Amino acid sequence: MSEQEIREQICDVCHKMWQLGWVAANDGNVSVKLEEDIYLTTPTGMSKSFITPEKLVKINGEGDILEALEGLKPSSEIKMHLRCYQERNDIGAVVHAHPPTATGFAVAHLDMDRYTMIESVLTIGSVPITPYATPSTYEVPEAIAPYLNEHDVLLLENHGALTVGTDVLTAYYRMETLELWAKISLTAHLLGGEKEISRENVDRLCSMRKQYNLTGRHPGFKRYRKEDK
Ligand code: 13P
Repeated sequence: MSEQEIREQICDVCHKMWQLGWVAANDGNVSVKLEEDIYLTTPTGMSKSFITPEKLVKINGEGDILEALEGLKPSSEIKMHLRCYQERNDIGAVVHAHPPTATGFAVAHLDMDRYTMIESVLTIGSVPITPYATPSTYEVPEAIAPYLNEHDVLLLENHGALTVGTDVLTAYYRMETLELWAKISLTAHLLGGEKEISRENVDRLCSMRKQYNLTGRHPGFKRYRKEDK
């Protein structure tokens, strides 16, 4: 895929997230690894509805600007994105947004560390909440790093959600899966409560991930509590 096509794909994802109501005002950020030590990121302080290919900022692994339109700077959350790429070579894109139902769980301090819906078991696995961290600081990468080894999808306490993938569409689809599962979980709660899938069936679903060509990490049938970290 050419750099221009990747830039266009990032813009598609930004526009979709805005249309879906996952990002108000300047919320959210997206980045892609173009090659070793070269990344594209959304600029800081711009609505995701207004992002166009030339507005993306090219940076190195230190966050230094390599190429940008005058006045545009990398996302203020770039430290969080760069930590994802540092932790895992298989990560090619990072998406951060505030999808309202999933973020509701993060705000209520309710993790999604459970297996209740077949599709989310298969594709993203259980989703922990990472400890509270002040946006744009090194607290954020420190808070998420311990979870990245086994998770592609994280809730950020009192903040939002983070997904990673080999490419930007994969990372974006993981955010869609998270938000739909969060909505379904909330509905199930209103209807009397979620019912968990048995360990045997979860194991069976996990073993089918290859058959569906699913990439990324998966925690399997394992519980995480942030106090364990
Ligand atoms: P940026 O505009 O700097 O990317 O920040 C938006 C955001 O969502 C902070 O969490």
